[in-house]
Amino acid sequence: MDFERALAGVESTFEQRLGAATRDADVAEIQVAFLGRSGELTLMRRAIGKLPPEERPAAGQRINAVAERMELRLASALETLRARGLDAALKQHVDATFPAAARRRGSIHPIRRTLQDVCDFFERRGYAVVLGPEVETEYHAFDALNIPPDHPAREGFDTFYLPGGLLLRPHTSPMQVRTMLAHQPPLALVVPGRCYRRDALDARHSFAFHQVEGLVVAEGITMAHLKGTMEAMCRELFGPQQRVRFRPSYFPFTEPSAEVDTTCPGCNGIGCRTCSGSGWLEIGGSGMVHPNVFREVGYDPSRVTGWAFGIGPERIAMVRHGIDDIREFVDNEPAFLEQF
Ligand code: PHE
Repeated sequence: MDFERALAGVESTFEQRLGAATRDADVAEIQVAFLGRSGELTLMRRAIGKLPPEERPAAGQRINAVAERMELRLASALETLRARGLDAALKQHVDATFPAAARRRGSIHPIRRTLQDVCDFFERRGYAVVLGPEVETEYHAFDALNIPPDHPAREGFDTFYLPGGLLLRPHTSPMQVRTMLAHQPPLALVVPGRCYRRDALDARHSFAFHQVEGLVVAEGITMAHLKGTMEAMCRELFGPQQRVRFRPSYFPFTEPSAEVDTTCPGCNGIGCRTCSGSGWLEIGGSGMVHPNVFREVGYDPSRVTGWAFGIGPERIAMVRHGIDDIREFVDNEPAFLEQF
């Protein structure tokens, strides 16, 4: 009878202490105090020996039953504490009813979009889209393009020179040379990329800008293919009513050479502020690849012909979106960028 009362007393003390536990450590402590090697229940087990022999088995079973209940109660107390702790932490840090900040949507930069549109146009027609280095050699940027060191055209490029005969490419045309040195004709490719010139910054000029170079070389390629391609490209970029005109020009690496103009989409060729009243906008330079360039890369100019162009995506994007200052592209003004 004494034993029964003592056991009941131990269990109710256990319950009291567990009810007051607020942390995992409290629960662990209680476990040691009751079920540990010198815990209350263990002591009771040792006391069994003092009972009359016939009472011992029943007493042992009772202790085991209490120990089992205690284990279960400890486990569920831990679980309750953890759940309560998570709740408290969430309440402290997250107010699920607080109005969310409006999310700003990003957009593709107008230059990137224009580069992408130009490249898509050519890729669909089977051209390769390739990239080249922005740090170039004088050989690829000038010599191999039929611009010898003393040629006045070199000055026209206002190049940033680097030590060791290197430079920041002032145009994407060096990729004509690199591609032809590495591959045999027929070839059809476009090269989008950034170029650099020592130009003073104003509404129309920047020291860093983009070009898309185009090159087609095969037997029987003519300037008519070039003009037709430029016209199709302009119609895709600006609209189906576009026309293209070639104005005679000069580049050392093409002969004949032509500036590529397209009808001003702002006024459909009537004349407005964007086109300074002329009805036409210049988008780049072009021409038939000069025989000296072919010879330099080991092509036979009596067998293959080709044409090349270099167009300015800044110019195209300005016309497409009615932007009148090239500096807006790099000012990083959210109000400007969010329009696209
Ligand atoms: N590379 C020339 C420039 O930057 C443009 C051009 C490219 C002209 C290809 C003819 C052929 O001005």
